[in-house]
Amino acid sequence: MDLTTAYLGLTLKSPLVASASPLNRQLENLRILQDCGAGAVVLPSVFEEQINREQEILDALIDHGSESYGEALSFFPAQTFASDTSNHLALVEQAAQTLAIPVIASLNGVTESGWIEYAQDLESAGAAAIELNVFFVPSDPAVCGSDVEKRYTDIVAAVAGEVDIPVSVKVGPYFSSPGHMAGQLVRAGARGLVLFNRFYEPDIDPATLSMQTSLELSHAHEMRLPLLWIGVLAGRSKASLAATTGVETADDVIKYLLAGADVVMTTSALLRHGPQYMRVLVDGLADWLTARGLSSPADIRGKLSHSNVGDPETYERANYIKVLQGFAQH
Ligand SMILES: Cc1cc2nc3c(=O)[nH]c(=O)nc-3n(C[C@H](O)[C@H](O)[C@H](O)COP(=O)(O)O)c2cc1C
Repeated sequence: MDLTTAYLGLTLKSPLVASASPLNRQLENLRILQDCGAGAVVLPSVFEEQINREQEILDALIDHGSESYGEALSFFPAQTFASDTSNHLALVEQAAQTLAIPVIASLNGVTESGWIEYAQDLESAGAAAIELNVFFVPSDPAVCGSDVEKRYTDIVAAVAGEVDIPVSVKVGPYFSSPGHMAGQLVRAGARGLVLFNRFYEPDIDPATLSMQTSLELSHAHEMRLPLLWIGVLAGRSKASLAATTGVETADDVIKYLLAGADVVMTTSALLRHGPQYMRVLVDGLADWLTARGLSSPADIRGKLSHSNVGDPETYERANYIKVLQGFAQH
């Protein structure tokens, strides 16, 4: 089965992409993902805060002058000088040289400032594309929606302006009009939209009266929100659409393709079952297509999108009323 897929102007051998996670920090895992049919891999993010911190330390060293350089080194913890960003660039370089599939680097930040130049380093290291993750929590109630949207588009324009490789944007769903925002991101230079970021909201522990942070892997029911917006945008946005969140089985991959995703990303399932699980998803998709006499993911892509589904109101308010009124208590 030929699963060839176009994404961000790149040709992928399948629509399955291993999204950013610590799993993709190991070259060995990346090789397994490739061998098990992944169309591309996204490396873990480099964060704006990491880049800025290293720059601050470098600036401090320079300010101390060359004579005090050796002494200044001892002021800082050793791991700071095993520079995170250099290690990261080395990973991009090694992965790009070793793998035949595209290696997508991930940049993660929320301000339009100097860290953005790091995109050029990622391109030079061999990244085929950059996935820009903007995870901004507008916790200041004085900040209005249009300012938040401008922040996103400014960052996208700045990163896209730094590099020749395609840039995709990974965002959350919390905009007044996600469809309009998608258009703005594309106009700012995004070639692809990765929908959606998961929000790792803090919890509160009543026993210790403290804030708790924890990361739980996703579950399939969480895919409904990205499924909705991919379905709404498919065929109506110029951007490539990548679905992320909630993929546990090949059926979940098929659902996202039916809604209109160009590629389907997965992290939690790979962390749960290991990188070899990519093979289960890829083969599951191929088997499903074969069983129906279909020859490619293109045969199902977007078949149930808002534009193509017979009753588009299932994507709208009518669905809300139907599910509320149709609820039967057991
Ligand atoms: C442990 C862990 C680390 C992650 N690190 C990153 C990251 O560095 N950058 C990023 O954009 N997303 C990161 N993600 C989010 C995933 O790429 C993915 O979008 C999210 O987990 C939803 O997909 P899933 O339901 O298949 O897990 C991480 C997720 C997990 C669970």
